[in-house]
Amino acid sequence: MLPTIEWRGDRVVMIDQRRLPGEEIYVECRDAESVARAIETMIIRGAPAIGVAAAYGLALGFLMVPDRGRAAAEFAAVSDRLRRTRPTARNLFWALERMKAVFESHQGLPLAELQSRLVREAQDIEREDADICERIGRNGAALIKDGDSVLTHCNAGGLATAAYGTAVGIIRAAFERGTKFRVFADETRPFLQGARLTAWELEKLGVPYAVITDNMAGWLMHKGEISLAVVGADRIARNGDVANKIGTYSAAVLAKENGLPFYVAAPLSTFDFSLADGGGIPIEERPAAEVREIAGRLITPAGAKVRNPAFDVTPARYITAIITEKGIARPPYEASLGALR
Ligand code: MRU
Repeated sequence: MLPTIEWRGDRVVMIDQRRLPGEEIYVECRDAESVARAIETMIIRGAPAIGVAAAYGLALGFLMVPDRGRAAAEFAAVSDRLRRTRPTARNLFWALERMKAVFESHQGLPLAELQSRLVREAQDIEREDADICERIGRNGAALIKDGDSVLTHCNAGGLATAAYGTAVGIIRAAFERGTKFRVFADETRPFLQGARLTAWELEKLGVPYAVITDNMAGWLMHKGEISLAVVGADRIARNGDVANKIGTYSAAVLAKENGLPFYVAAPLSTFDFSLADGGGIPIEERPAAEVREIAGRLITPAGAKVRNPAFDVTPARYITAIITEKGIARPPYEASLGALR
């Protein structure tokens, strides 16, 4: 349904997520550098979608390699450039590692065949991600019951993945089953992924929803107006600690205080089994302008000092369950995630 990203033979086309919901504009990337910039500037964002974009960026960059002699050096240079775009999303590194494995195991192929093989791998990553999201949706749909009010944070929908979404995938699957519920979408300052993107998706899907500012969620929980929360993830450590959009931690603590289930939905490509806990997850700091401005308009004194960590880490003890394409993991996560892996 949602055209997040598309391969067109010699270029990648993606919907410009900075312009939604006001304008549905598509951006064409004809080289790896423009894909890298699209990721950095959030034309495309959301961990799985970043992974797909990076794979296409690498395939695109490699299409420009002039001769076999330069192949290995060019592949490494393009991959390094893409790795430096956004540090928190595990899927970015996972996708580049997968492309590298294909590159290394097909070294003997003529250049043109190796180039096509890498394009096919990126297409597989995209197709698989859409399929995985539908599985996550099916696995999690029954967690939402008739009469529930579901809080979600940021955008973990079709726009953040190849298609369908993770947290929004669960919402969508429950809706498609006929469950009667509504959604509260946190606006998600500073980039407003909830107000702009999740609301846009829910509107298109016909799911009843209301946008709230981030600071309203706690009060609505306290008043009994929220039944559960479901969010996505950018990186998950072995013990179940979850890095996700800034504000996720606050929502999870408030959910626990109010006795509400707090679910995380993510594909296995978001897990970083090399990390024992969330302490080692790199947290991206984004430009100050994102906090100083709303829609390009200054809302603070021009020189105001700001902080802009784009993600936080929610300790596993606040998380009721993690829904993956292989099933639902519950605490203790070291064991349950290990089994799913
Ligand atoms: O900064 P963003 O918009 O890339 O952050 C996105 C999120 O935090 C999502 O919740 C996460 O990537 C999961 S998307 C399925």
